[in-house]
This record gives sequence, structure tokens and C-alpha cells, in this order.
Amino acid sequence: MMKPEFDAKYKEHLTRKILDLKKERDAIIVAHNYQRDEIQELADITGDSYALATKVVKAKEKVVVFCGVKFMAESAYMLSPGKTVLLPVEEAGCPLADMATVEKLRKKKDEYPEAAVVSYVNSTAAVKAESDICCTSSNAIKVVKSLKEEKIIFVPDKNLGRYVREHVPEKELILWDGYCVVHMRLTREEVVKTKELYPNAEFIVHPECRKEVLELADYTGSTAGMLKYVNESPCQEFIVGTEIGIIYRMKRDNPEKKFYVPTDQFICANMKLTTLGWIARSLEKMVYKIEVPENTAVKARKALERMVEVTG
Ligand code: 13P
Ligand code: SF4
Repeated sequence: MMKPEFDAKYKEHLTRKILDLKKERDAIIVAHNYQRDEIQELADITGDSYALATKVVKAKEKVVVFCGVKFMAESAYMLSPGKTVLLPVEEAGCPLADMATVEKLRKKKDEYPEAAVVSYVNSTAAVKAESDICCTSSNAIKVVKSLKEEKIIFVPDKNLGRYVREHVPEKELILWDGYCVVHMRLTREEVVKTKELYPNAEFIVHPECRKEVLELADYTGSTAGMLKYVNESPCQEFIVGTEIGIIYRMKRDNPEKKFYVPTDQFICANMKLTTLGWIARSLEKMVYKIEVPENTAVKARKALERMVEVTG
């Protein structure tokens, strides 16, 4: 194990290197709310999937270093033509996104030809290209409500789909059998136990969690929604039902408030692959360039842009 003082020096060295390379390359660093603390600290922009995809479009820099997972970098690439989007770790994927394939989605569309397809952004570019519109956890209800079709194939997250269904009962949602391996780990029992330990705490949760977990929530929303809720709530204690990376911002913005985790299993291994070392290497070698074949990107971009139009 590295000595703490060496660790701090190494971090300082890498940070300086990244900042120099960032200038040289005309790059911006964006980080999802689940990234490691030191990466959120260094990033120019942090946020949820929706905020990152849309803010990148407005950035003046030519290069985007996307600290997150592949589907997020793909969305940024498709919404920002002309920019170079780099994913520091090539293997940083999302198991949920891989739970839907184009072949299976086409079969579902044949089964329900009258249905619209809504794809959660946690999906591949190819699946987005087969969709009428995309959504994120921050706007899924609004997106579904905006559609004229009564029947909707909702792909790939069944938990978010079920949550939307409860809020838009006038629509018939056909759910995909996909789920986030990280959020599915949280059980109702773990939340109940944590609530017993901290009876004054509010329980805030991401809609990718199980139905029986969402039933216990004081607030359900995207990672950005949860951050906003914590900032605005008069409550002083929170049980956080999502990936632990989010606690960095919660604590930074609310040093006087307390945050508890209902399980120590709330870690997205893919999000944690990115480190300062990989970011430095990414800028140095200009890797890994995220691109989507133009015939797929044209269609997927339409679904993404339609979401942005609806969300405003
Ligand atoms: P948000 O869009 O809420 O940040 O969520 C992304 C995600 O991957 C949740 O697991
Ligand atoms: Fe994918 Fe789940 Fe990780 Fe989010 S937390 S990136 S949905 S695996």
C-alpha cells in the first residue's frame, strides 16, 4: 500500500498533468455523479445522464473526456457532432445497456406494431436507433406522457418502467426484462433496518431500484434530482439509495447534513474503473475515441433530440 503522503503527491502530480494536457488539447472533463471523488473534484461539469449529454453540446472545447460509462459517451458524441469524445477506460460499460439487443427489440416491435418505443438512455446506440424517443430517469414520466400512442415498449429497465407506469396509468407500458445489477442489490429489509437505525432520516432513492424499495422512499428521482432534493430539504439526515459516488457532492454541498448508506454493496464497478491515471493517459494518447456509425447515429440522434425537445 502507498504511504498517504506519497499518495497525495501522486494525486497532485497527476492532477497537474491532466490540467496541462487539458489546455494543450482544448478539452473539457465531464464526470457522472457516480465517479470517484477526486474525479468529480477535477471535472469541469458533473451531473446526471441528461445534464451531461445536453451540457456537452454547449461546450466550446473540441475534446470531451467523458468520465462515465460508454452509453453516456455515445450520447454525447451523437448530440455533439464535430467534437472528439474520449472514454478513458474502454471497458467502462453498463450491464443494463447490454440487456437489450436490436434483434430482440425488433421482435417486440413486430409483436406490438402499434406501440411507440421509448429507450432509457442506458442502452446501446443501436437500440436507440430503433426507438421513437429516448428518456433518462429525470424525464421518463414527461417523455411517456408526451406520446400520442397508448401502448409503449419501454426498454431496457423494468424498474424505471414500472415506476413510470405508476405515474402514467393512462398508458399501457410493455416492460423489458432488464435491470441494473447495482440497484437491484438493495433489498427492502436493508432499507427497513437502516431506517430503524436512523429514524429521523429521509430515504431518497433512484428509480432503478426494486418496487418494494421505492415504496419506502420519501423521494425518488435521478441522481441530479436527488442532489437537488438534499440541498432543498429541511431534513438533516438522509439514507441514500443509489451508487455511493453521489455522496461526495451531497457532503460537499451540505457539510452540516448526514448521509447513510443502506448497503455497502452500492458500488458500480464500471463507474469506478476511471481513475486520474486513466484520464491523464486518455488525454496524452487521445484514447478511446467514441464514435457511432453514421447510419446508426442518424436514427439514434433523432430519438435523443426528440427527448431534448420534450424535456426543454
Ligand atoms: P442518472 O441519469 O440518474 O444519473 O442515472 C444514471 C445511471 O446510470 C443510474 O444507474
Ligand atoms: Fe449501469 Fe447500473 Fe452502473 Fe448505472 S449504476 S451505469 S445503470 S450498471
